[in-house]
Amino acid sequence: MATIKLKVPSTEGSFSLTFPCHFANAPLESPPLIMYRTTTCNSLRLEHVGETVTLAGWVNSRRDHGGVIFIDLRDREGLTQVVFRPDENAAVSEASHSLRSEDVVTLTGTVVSRLLGTENSKLQTGGIEVVATALTVLNKAEVPPFPIDTDAGNEDLRLTHRYLDLRRPMMARNLKLRHRVTKTIRDFLDDQGYLEIETPILSKSTPEGARDFLVPSRLTPGSFYALPQAPQQYKQLLMVGGIEKYFQVAKCFRDEDLRADRQPEFTQIDLEASFITPDEIYTLLEGLLSQVFKAAKDVEIPTPFPRLTYTEALNRFGSDKPDTRFGMELVALDGIFENSTFKVFRGALDAGGCVKAINAKRFASITTGQIEELTQMAKLFGAKGLAFIKVENGEWKSPIVKFFTEEEKTALTARMHIEEGDLLLFGADKWDIVCEVLGRIRLRVMEIQRAQKLAGRFANEEILPQHLHDDFDDKLNFLWVIDFPLLAYNAEENKWNAVHHPFTRPLAEDLPLLEAGDFAKVRAQAYDVVLNGVEIGGGSIRIHEPALQSKMFDVLGVTGVQQETMFGHLLKAFSFGAPPHGGLALGLDRLVMLICGADSIRDVIAFPKNNRGVDLMTDSPSEVDFKQLRELYIQSTAKKG
Ligand code: AMO
Ligand code: AMP
Repeated sequence: MATIKLKVPSTEGSFSLTFPCHFANAPLESPPLIMYRTTTCNSLRLEHVGETVTLAGWVNSRRDHGGVIFIDLRDREGLTQVVFRPDENAAVSEASHSLRSEDVVTLTGTVVSRLLGTENSKLQTGGIEVVATALTVLNKAEVPPFPIDTDAGNEDLRLTHRYLDLRRPMMARNLKLRHRVTKTIRDFLDDQGYLEIETPILSKSTPEGARDFLVPSRLTPGSFYALPQAPQQYKQLLMVGGIEKYFQVAKCFRDEDLRADRQPEFTQIDLEASFITPDEIYTLLEGLLSQVFKAAKDVEIPTPFPRLTYTEALNRFGSDKPDTRFGMELVALDGIFENSTFKVFRGALDAGGCVKAINAKRFASITTGQIEELTQMAKLFGAKGLAFIKVENGEWKSPIVKFFTEEEKTALTARMHIEEGDLLLFGADKWDIVCEVLGRIRLRVMEIQRAQKLAGRFANEEILPQHLHDDFDDKLNFLWVIDFPLLAYNAEENKWNAVHHPFTRPLAEDLPLLEAGDFAKVRAQAYDVVLNGVEIGGGSIRIHEPALQSKMFDVLGVTGVQQETMFGHLLKAFSFGAPPHGGLALGLDRLVMLICGADSIRDVIAFPKNNRGVDLMTDSPSEVDFKQLRELYIQSTAKKG
């Protein structure tokens, strides 16, 4: 076997490595290989037939067709089929027998067109193959713990070997799209005069919503930095500093319970501007998102986005991040059941609550088990039950219909547009409970119906609900939710909390309500941007006057002393002429997840934590050396589990 001396290009000049090599008819002293590759594995087409090329990458798969070896060679860009024929090239062909999946190779060969009937229309390079004339194995691979060339299975296994998971085309595509999105945003904001400025990661712990991650300070014993939940105060201080237009691709850290769209560290496109109105922020973001969707998906999104007040969003969709891709809206049954004798409706109305319903079209076929599942879900979110009516064969099948009068039935039919095959689901309780419960039931019914559609049910139905139409998955329904409440009462803590954060500005016309202590009615100059039922961003116009900021802290129960120690820097900064300002942060991970059609933000983050906050690849968090703790004046009282 010949050896080959490889000149490896590197940033510090080239260096040499020696490898075993199998060249066809190769003289023992082969000329040194100076390039690993002349092109990528997704570039060759019929027009390249006859060219000699060098490719490098991983053996994606290997097939032995009676001594003729075929491999699919994979790099970041795609796959190319390579063929090793003993009759053309004995030595190289012999060497190819030992190739295994994930071996790293560089090879040279001639591009030929595939024989008629053997083209692969699924591959962009499917019209050609490369007949190998030289092969160098750069590194052998152990058998991977999961196949790279099929859909991955167990997520924990994928995360433990993330470097292998990243080799999968789906992950490479997601990271490429993430890059494209970030780059587009940077270019767009640069064009608009925004400066990209970094703010500290070691920052100050202030109550902002989630729990802080703390970092002990060795130099100031007993003191802690906090990792930023968001660069909120820094960006406001940049406005006081006269920067006027700021943005940052900002890492944020929140110690909260994790879900598919939440990570303990995630990325925001954080921005802030001085002398800006909400309308200007909406226009800026609509322009930014239009460019992102054009660059990443080549689609035009209609602007301006619809705007829904918080109250309307809850009233109609039971959510402050409504998915408007489908109907099934919540309908108030005001005026219909005022004299009802049904104790559930009567009780809710007498207690000052309301009755609402949704019409799940074409879903009278719901099973008892599914009704039970929905009822349990309703109870989990605070309802006492979930009354229903199925309309089957012209009959209303329901335990509650016996309590309805003919007038009530007629009015209900008209209000809910009831037809044969429909399923009605009712909520009767306090307004906010009814909205939240029916909002969640609405989403769940949509999911169940879509799963049934995929399983082949509904195929022959004449009238399909919107969410069962084929174009549902292509819909991009953006909207703004505006006029959020400023404050929410927390009964457990017996105090008022900020719905967004303590720096959010009340609506000017609601300031008297704040003064009068009518906190529940005060609206904020805050807005969220929502895409297909996912909150992809949120922001507000801020308080810029020290007196109003201090008043806000008072309402939130932050004492004078606490205001001084926790927020003194901000209050002081505001006293030196802070400009009016406002901004917003987009959740980059969530945005990219929706663009990629991924189910979880973990699929668009190179090295995410699992849903228990653990990085399975590096096994972090992990215990640290006793000496490290001692240096930080920390003693662990945790018991090993
Ligand atoms: P907010 O807390 O609403 O606002 O966050 C802005 C956006 O960040 C995303 N996001 C998350 N993404 C992944 N994992 C998480 N744990 C997570 N938490 C939030 C969401 C959300 O809409 N400083 C303010 C913004 C401002 O007022 O300018 C802030 O952080 O998509
Ligand atoms: P009950 O008479 O308590 O068995 O309730 C009759 C029906 O009304 C059952 O289907 C319950 O699930 C439903 N129900 C009970 N309380 C509520 C409520 N607050 N809102 C909606 N449905 C309810």
